[in-house]
Amino acid sequence: MPGFRTSEDHGFGYHTLTGYSVTIPPAHRDYKKYPHPLSAVKLARLAVDLSQQGNGLGERLLIDAIYRTVLVAKQISAIGLFVDPMTPEVIPFYQQYDFLPADPSDHSRLEMWLPIETCLEIVST
Ligand SMILES: CC(C)(COP(=O)(O)OP(=O)(O)OC[C@H]1O[C@@H](n2cnc3c(N)ncnc32)[C@H](O)[C@@H]1OP(=O)(O)O)[C@@H](O)C(=O)NCCC(=O)NCCS
Repeated sequence: MPGFRTSEDHGFGYHTLTGYSVTIPPAHRDYKKYPHPLSAVKLARLAVDLSQQGNGLGERLLIDAIYRTVLVAKQISAIGLFVDPMTPEVIPFYQQYDFLPADPSDHSRLEMWLPIETCLEIVST
C-alpha cells in the first residue's frame, strides 16, 4: 500500500495506519467535484489482546488513529479514515464512533469511513 505507515503498540494492542487512495468516492455529494483519486488514511490493523478486551484499550487506539488522521489531513487534505471491518460483528464497534458505510449502495461491501469533519470533532472533544 502506498504512503506512510505507523504502528502504535500499547503492549496488549496495536494499530497500523497506511496511506490510502479512494478511486471511487464515497456517496457524498461534497466530493463529487473533487479531482481523483482522493487521499485518505486506512486503519489497516486494530487489535487488542483477548485478555485485555473490554477495558477501553481498543477505543484509545482508535482515537489515536483518528488523531493521526487529522495530522495527515492538515498536510495532504485526506478525506477521512477508512477501515475494512474484519467481520460483520465488529461493524457496531465502528458505528458507535460514527463511521459510515463507504458505499451505502453496496451492502456486500463492509468498508467504512469516518469523514474528516467527524475526525476533527472527535479530537477536539
Ligand atoms: C474490536 C476491538 C479492537 C475492540 O477493543 P476493546 O479494547 O475490546 O474495546 P473497548 O474496551 O475500548 O471498547 C470500547 C467500546 O466499544 C464497545 N465494543 C467493543 N467491541 C465491540 C464490538 N465488537 N461490537 C460493538 N461494540 C463493541 C465496548 O462495549 C465499548 O463501549 P462502551 O464504552 O459503551 O462500553 C477488539 O475486540 C479486538 O481486537 N477484536 C479482534 C480484532 C478485531 O476485530 N479488530 C478489528 C479489525 S477491523
